[in-house]
Amino acid sequence: MTKAPPRDLTRSNAHYRRAVQRLPLGVASTFRYWGDDRTIYVDHGKGGRFWDIDGNAYVDYRLGYGPAILGYADARVDAAAMRGMNVGGVFALSTERELAVADRICNMVPGMDLVRFSNSGTEAVMGALRLARAHTGRESYLLIEGSYHGLFDAAMWMVNVEDWQPGGNLDPEVVSYSKGIPQDLKALAHLTPMNDPQKLEDVFKRHGSSLAAMLIEPIQGNCCGISATTEFVRLARSLCDQYGVLLIIDEVKTGFRVAKGGVQSLHGVVPDIATFAKAMANGYPIAAIAGREEVMRTFRYGGAAHGGTYTAHSVSLAAAEECLRILDETPALATIASYGEALKSGLSDILTRRGIVHSFTGHSSMFGLFFAPHAPDNYRDWKLSDYTFYDTMAHHLHDLCIICEPDSREPWFICEAHDAACLSDTLKAVETAVDLTLEQVQAAQ
Ligand SMILES: Cc1ncc(COP(=O)(O)O)c(C=O)c1O
Repeated sequence: MTKAPPRDLTRSNAHYRRAVQRLPLGVASTFRYWGDDRTIYVDHGKGGRFWDIDGNAYVDYRLGYGPAILGYADARVDAAAMRGMNVGGVFALSTERELAVADRICNMVPGMDLVRFSNSGTEAVMGALRLARAHTGRESYLLIEGSYHGLFDAAMWMVNVEDWQPGGNLDPEVVSYSKGIPQDLKALAHLTPMNDPQKLEDVFKRHGSSLAAMLIEPIQGNCCGISATTEFVRLARSLCDQYGVLLIIDEVKTGFRVAKGGVQSLHGVVPDIATFAKAMANGYPIAAIAGREEVMRTFRYGGAAHGGTYTAHSVSLAAAEECLRILDETPALATIASYGEALKSGLSDILTRRGIVHSFTGHSSMFGLFFAPHAPDNYRDWKLSDYTFYDTMAHHLHDLCIICEPDSREPWFICEAHDAACLSDTLKAVETAVDLTLEQVQAAQ
């Protein structure tokens, strides 16, 4: 069998053995552990690439799960962050720059009147759900199957598709996706499949009057880029209106990436609340909750609590001001989308020449690659599909120094700094990885 050139991970492997003595799984976030001998430790990043501590240079399509929208170590954003550093830290008081960033967000995203800041996507969605509950006086909420809204108890419910009989009358069971989630909370979470209008109407009929919010990621950034149709998002909007439920569009991954106004602007739907994070500050930790004035004013004494020691940190805020300016005022998003198109078309050529049926989901700036004639349009279909080809190919791509998520759920993210050299390195590696995968698949038959 053809072999991928060996990638030297000697230092990463040695570091892992030391790190695991002090850090669970040797990492700071469970998803960064890729195996005892495949966990990478980064030395530094620049543009669309990063270098590991062994000196391997990778073209990166994870981009930290999306934040590095302009590329790593962007000089413009880093200079702004430095200006933020000169402000002096956090004061448990506000600075003027908060208003400038809030203005920018409201000018970019139609229908957003007011803004509050948070430190992470998780924190923003937690705040948005609390706001919706405080505003409506209701406690339960609706999630779309396959969605991810961060690591907090209310969001960590999923459907158990493995033990489910497709084609039957029963829906898959709702289960928590981590130990440590109180089962008592389950009664508050309802789940419904993406793009199934009948089931959406049914769930509103049954539970609409007790729902505080419906949360939706119209492009599922953690589920292969599965995308809602415009009709489905509009139906969600009108059912929310009919039942007095607040629509929360989670734009943590899509915001300021798929369009200046986020995925909501592509569907022409204005939510009551939207959450933003990743692309806001090119990797500096900041997030935002934005929304309709009447709802957002529930953030007040005696209303929904919101705040935190590091909220609107001067470094992140200055980085956000510059990153959003670049996304708003320069053709960065068009550059990103056109690289994404070129990459998809290069991938398609390679696969088509080998007779490999495939399709894409999502948006050219964050797309999922799927080995079937039609991409799935909900989590049940994805889960029941064969994604071993992708998983095997991803493994080889890593060895060839192209970084995509090891499992097919995470889309490929594009940044402004991905250039012609990144593209040609990627396509060369994909050609080899696909051939290696084909050999492996054929050998297994
Ligand atoms: C749609 C969505 N919401 C929320 C989150 C949580 O964000 P964070 O990882 O910054 O807490 C994520 C993270 O990937 C996300 O994709």
